[in-house]
Amino acid sequence: MQFNKIKKELKSSQHTWLITGVAGFIGSNLLEELLQLDQIIIGVDNFSTGREDNLKEVESIVSSDQWRNFKFYQGDITNFNDCNEVCKNVDYVLHQAALGSVPRSIKDPIATNASNISGFLNILQAAKNNNVKSFTYAASSSTYGDHMDLPKIEENIGRPLSPYALTKYVNELYSEVFARAYGFKSIGLRYFNVYGKRQDPNGAYAAVIPKWTTSMIKNKDVYINGDGETSRDFCFVENAVQANILAALAKESAKNNVYNIAVGDRTSLIELYKLIKESLSLNKVDVKNKPIFRDFRDGDVKHSQASIEKAKNNLGYEPKFNIAEGIAKAMPWYIKASKL
Ligand SMILES: NC(=O)c1ccc[n+]([C@@H]2O[C@H](COP(=O)([O-])OP(=O)(O)OC[C@H]3O[C@@H](n4cnc5c(N)ncnc54)[C@H](O)[C@@H]3O)[C@@H](O)[C@H]2O)c1
Repeated sequence: MQFNKIKKELKSSQHTWLITGVAGFIGSNLLEELLQLDQIIIGVDNFSTGREDNLKEVESIVSSDQWRNFKFYQGDITNFNDCNEVCKNVDYVLHQAALGSVPRSIKDPIATNASNISGFLNILQAAKNNNVKSFTYAASSSTYGDHMDLPKIEENIGRPLSPYALTKYVNELYSEVFARAYGFKSIGLRYFNVYGKRQDPNGAYAAVIPKWTTSMIKNKDVYINGDGETSRDFCFVENAVQANILAALAKESAKNNVYNIAVGDRTSLIELYKLIKESLSLNKVDVKNKPIFRDFRDGDVKHSQASIEKAKNNLGYEPKFNIAEGIAKAMPWYIKASKL
């Protein structure tokens, strides 16, 4: 309800937003929603994992007038001048740019550190210097590390299990210090396994839902790491988009905080496999192969489920899609993308 009201208000008042990582999965979904709300968007990306096709797809969805409200800047957040340039005259920052993936960070912690810590600090400092109205950033459920309790509550975290998790925790520490030292308060959104259209299904670091779905469509093998009981709180991207917009416009008292962004539910990998298979069958794609079980992956936690009470209470966050609804909505895109 609150989100619909905010969307209505945005439609009648134009603001300037910066989306970092705009050519990526979550960034391009934010771009699509905000352009459709007639907002002005500055986007920055270095195309390290993002794709020009994601931007082209958004262009094909929004009107030509809305597309004219988008200014793309090819740049790198590890370069402070790029950050300073894109923060000029911006009202709201939605910082998504980072190198994702736990295994990637284990293989190359230095590259992950550069984009996720130095890049984060650059954009935070540039945003502060340019007096933006709010700064919202992508944090991560990986920050819970080896803390075993379920559901995950923001205040109770463990030790990080990967360089990626460490970088995301350092982001939270930097934003806390910026609030303390400069009075510059931000909001971190700890995403839990986000999925949906434009999430890259290819490559060694692809996330489980696009990777499995594409493999199933193409009749390729699907691998389950571990015994299949590993569980996650899978969050449809439109829930994450809602959370970003609510956070950007949140009241002062909600700032200088981190929030879990998920559904508050838990799905095992075996259940996930069945859900994808059923959804494909409804779309007339029959899956014949059985999944293949293999070893657990380094740095992975066994179970993850969020408490979303804090985001509900402070931001008015109300996830609209559970796992089955999100998969059903994303499926036509996966099927189309796998045929390209
Ligand atoms: N997808 C998830 O499940 C998930 C979960 C937790 C946190 N996150 C975080 O959400 C954010 C967005 O993730 P995503 O899934 O959309 O990933 P993504 O890889 O699709 O998007 C990240 C974008 O950032 C860009 N980028 C990376 N380094 C950059 C740099 N140095 N300069 C400029 N651009 C750079 C990439 O090219 C890419 O377009 C990331 O910060 C990620 O860590 C994602």
